[in-house]
Amino acid sequence: MPVNKEQRARPGSPGAGENSRPGEVRLQRYLADAGVASRRHSELLITEGRVKVNGRTVRELPAFVVPGEDRVQVDGTPIEGAERRVYIMLNKPTRTLSTVEDEPGAARRTVLDLVDHPSGARLYPVGRLDFDTRGLVLMTNDGELANRLTHPKFGVEKTYHVTVKGYLDAEGLEKLEKGIYLAERREGRTVGAVRASHVRLKMLRRDRERTILELTLKEGRNRQVRRMLAAVGCPVKKLERVAVGPLKLKGLASGEWRELSNIEVQMLRRAVERGTKKAAMGPNAPREGKAQKPGWSSRKPGRSQPPPDGGRREGSA
Ligand code: URA
Repeated sequence: MPVNKEQRARPGSPGAGENSRPGEVRLQRYLADAGVASRRHSELLITEGRVKVNGRTVRELPAFVVPGEDRVQVDGTPIEGAERRVYIMLNKPTRTLSTVEDEPGAARRTVLDLVDHPSGARLYPVGRLDFDTRGLVLMTNDGELANRLTHPKFGVEKTYHVTVKGYLDAEGLEKLEKGIYLAERREGRTVGAVRASHVRLKMLRRDRERTILELTLKEGRNRQVRRMLAAVGCPVKKLERVAVGPLKLKGLASGEWRELSNIEVQMLRRAVERGTKKAAMGPNAPREGKAQKPGWSSRKPGRSQPPPDGGRREGSA
């Protein structure tokens, strides 16, 4: 039985109310995904009374169905083929590939070996983490959302905690913030250099032996964090992704996964929509947070010197 929004939506979170069922989607989206018609045209089919869900005509929008569970008909014809959308958060351990399979002849563990969803949905990782990077990996069979979460045009932020060898000084931090030039390689050859886009930094800990930073990026070039840190003379010792857009990695031990709630999926969609609007405004779109004068200390390190601002950089976190 489709559930009508008025019965359950909370203000400000349409379609993501407390009583919503895992994997549910808007009826017009279900029809569009199944190839019946565009979303707009599907809305007309619904309001004209041509769509039945579990034997009952649905005329009012919004209405929600769970693909694979609810029976949908248009003009009496059953609509098949739309798979239930599944969205997973995994805490990827190191020494695990974030691809669906290894290269021929190799047999390393992949993220798919760790996630065994009961629906049997064909899941794909959203973007990539290096073999030795740990942390938050999203997995889904929703190709459209996955593309938008990874395409730099939509600017969905990814946040990392990175531990580097040595004391990363003020000069290095400023270089990182301004944007390091990274070699651009195609077909195994360097074809130029591209400046990494704006990065937000927050100092978490720093002493003579190591520096721990929180780093937020809007793009995901190959091994970007490792290459940026190497360029300022600080090789990465440990790298963990702790957030993708508004979703934070919390409550999952290494190797564990869980399904996202409908509210979390809505949060991801909204992050993508914000990016779409900004992209439409062009390069003059206002940037989040106000640029401030660098405040990093260039003092020589003591044994365990806290950052000058207590670990928080105004306007850059
Ligand atoms: N940047 C890297 O260098 N590696 C990752 O896995 C992710 C971002």
